[in-house]
Amino acid sequence: MSIVNAARAFVACTFALAGIGIAQAQGVIKIGLVAEFSGPFAQYGQQIYGGMKTYMKQHGDTVAGKKIEIIQKDVGGPAPDVAKRLAQELVTRDKVDFLVGFGLTPNALAAAPIATEAKVPMVIMNAATSIITTKSPYIVRTSMTLPQITQPVAVWAAKNGIKKVYTVVADYGPGIDAEGAFISAFKAGGGEIVGSVRTPLQNPEYAPFIQRVKDAKPDAVFLFLPAGEQGIAFMKGYKERGLADAGIKLIATGDITDDGVLEAMGDPTLGLITSFHYSAAHDSPENKAFVKTYAEVNGTKLRPNFMAVGGYDGMAAIYEALKKTGGDTNGDKVIAAMKGLKLTSPRGPLTIDPDTRDPVQTVYIRKVEKTGGGLYNVEFERLENQKDPGK
Ligand code: PHB
Repeated sequence: MSIVNAARAFVACTFALAGIGIAQAQGVIKIGLVAEFSGPFAQYGQQIYGGMKTYMKQHGDTVAGKKIEIIQKDVGGPAPDVAKRLAQELVTRDKVDFLVGFGLTPNALAAAPIATEAKVPMVIMNAATSIITTKSPYIVRTSMTLPQITQPVAVWAAKNGIKKVYTVVADYGPGIDAEGAFISAFKAGGGEIVGSVRTPLQNPEYAPFIQRVKDAKPDAVFLFLPAGEQGIAFMKGYKERGLADAGIKLIATGDITDDGVLEAMGDPTLGLITSFHYSAAHDSPENKAFVKTYAEVNGTKLRPNFMAVGGYDGMAAIYEALKKTGGDTNGDKVIAAMKGLKLTSPRGPLTIDPDTRDPVQTVYIRKVEKTGGGLYNVEFERLENQKDPGK
């Protein structure tokens, strides 16, 4: 080979390698998942990630010709400083194209400024305090807002002979939203609030609160607690202190009868009325396929709950947006593509509101019943196209 030809070959080879390098860099879309994978809220991360994996099992791990890679980070619990640091590291070090996950409100709020600064789309797969989407134009939510899912049970209670209610909520964003939405809708329906109490988010001890409710003799107690162990503890106290026997009904958002813990709470939940956007018993072909694939991917120990659906639909929103942008991950283009997006979710129809970037969806009134497969939230009324009533 002449020197000239050798030089040409070298240059060609260098360009080819550079080309491969560029092709590879362009060929991967990185998703940074920040969620709770340890501590008392560990099921949040498990459910969200389980739902994301379910979507990828059904739809493949490439979209618009690019491979999807998930980088998983454990925030450990309600830890805003950690959530912020993890989001920052994912953006600057790992160069993620999306931030996703966020089971708990304080973690989502802490990471919002990172999304804004980096212009990285942030998909909230659970955290449900109303204001979250107002904290960054790069946030889209695929879960719910507390006012959206609370108002229907307040209206239902007022129409169904419940006159006096005592409210009990966890003392942080979603609890305060639930309390406000319940009180205004229940009063508008002619109901009376005889007491309200807020319980600590960390290490709550419910006995004194439950006693206070019992002494006030309401027709019902309205409850919002973050899904999981807290609901189990409250239900135990409600039974032990004889509230049901005293004729005090329990009504709640579906966080309390979350499908992941319903069996563990057992028969005391029978007959409990809740309003919510997802039940594992929802009767649709999409939900049947979702529940089946979820079990194939994640095993059968944990039934998929609303957080799993939030994760699943979050991935759906990402895939659909990337199809529209032709794989372009530019934050402004992705968010524009997500606005107004319509999905047929396992929960029912879901639209991303173009104005608020919050989900618009059907909210169901459900009752816990024992079916062939165990305890389930059986839907018996539906309110379509529900938005956050305060927005
Ligand atoms: C929240 O922190 O926003 C949150 C957590 C658990 C729920 C609902 C909302 O069940």
